[in-house]
Amino acid sequence: MRSISRTALLIGTLVVVPAAATAAKGLRAKAEGAGLFIGTAVRFYHRPADTGVLMSPFRDDPVYTARIAKEFNIVTPENVMKMGSLHPSRDSYNFADADSLVDFADQHGIVVRGHVLVWHQQTGDWLTDGAFSKAELQEILEEHVAAVAGHFAGRLFAWDVVNEAIDDNTFKLRKTIWLKSGKDYIERAFRAARAADPDAVLCYNDYNHAASLSWQRQKSDAVYKLVKKLVKKKVPIDCVGFQLHTAPEIFDPAGIAENFRRYADLGLQVHITELDVSLETPSTPATRKKQGAIYKTVMDLCLGAPNCTAFVTWGFTDRYSWIPEFQPGRGDALILDSDYRKKPAYKKLSKSLKKAAQAVAEAATP
Ligand code: G3I
Repeated sequence: MRSISRTALLIGTLVVVPAAATAAKGLRAKAEGAGLFIGTAVRFYHRPADTGVLMSPFRDDPVYTARIAKEFNIVTPENVMKMGSLHPSRDSYNFADADSLVDFADQHGIVVRGHVLVWHQQTGDWLTDGAFSKAELQEILEEHVAAVAGHFAGRLFAWDVVNEAIDDNTFKLRKTIWLKSGKDYIERAFRAARAADPDAVLCYNDYNHAASLSWQRQKSDAVYKLVKKLVKKKVPIDCVGFQLHTAPEIFDPAGIAENFRRYADLGLQVHITELDVSLETPSTPATRKKQGAIYKTVMDLCLGAPNCTAFVTWGFTDRYSWIPEFQPGRGDALILDSDYRKKPAYKKLSKSLKKAAQAVAEAATP
């Protein structure tokens, strides 16, 4: 099922989601009415700043998983489907964590975005330290994609097949270990993924390429050029992912609608894949209000684009976010606060989704 539009999703997927799911309240009930997947990255390992003791939100925090089941109909594993997690050595795989997420999703009528088959980060030391030849790297890439996409075949809605392949400065292919396997590695990755899982929506995912008329325009055009070439070569690609890690200081919607449209013209879906809006911490009512406006703008841009089928934030509660660890002094980036209370961003999303669902219902009423 690689439908391009939300209408097709309404007919083909969301409406037939098990009754338990459609009975659920929260954002997902409204999103399903609008034919949209709304979701979050799911975190398995977290080291709280105050205790420093590693814990698992997914396994140890029942409020976390209950809220996911209530609010969302799509999830992405934040880390446990990356190469370093799944493929710890050349001849061993460990699917335990990833399988438990897919099982949880199945139980709650939630679909899964696989993240990520081919990325230059979190690959595992055995790969980066292995001094492999070009031919060996080609073999490893195709083996990994076939094994992982094959393991989950038929169970995932979509895959981020290749992530962040465009360099931020040269706007050409990033010089990564995968490029050492040949400049056609992206094509090989997509072909291997389609062969292993014919039903999954196959996506190219990147960051800072949404706003095609702002400071992002060079990268935006470089990604579009790459994707257009893949489509021309009949490479099996179905979707483009927009990470949208942003902040009030840098967010600029200029050209996002047109960018989504040019991918629709190529016959591709667009997914919002990793949205978060980081604030200086501690945040204030004023900065959280600004944050809410940005979440609303992105949601309305997605709802306004028939080929925008998924809206995923990179986490959903400030209690568990990657940002404070990677960007000291910043955080509070998500739609619920660290006590799972609704922030302005949540309320803005809820309002936009409700309006969209009402419009769909009215259009369907004879
Ligand atoms: O698995 C180890 C664990 O064994 C160890 O005890 C623990 C020590 O803190 O570290 C764990 O690995 C960490 C991993 O997350 C899993 O928690 C890594 O150190 C840490 O670097 C890694 O960070 C992730 C980062 O990708 C890696 O680049 C973040 O959580 C994750 O949010 C972030 O997500 C990326 C997307 O995949 C791609 N787009 C950008 C986005 C943000 O960087």
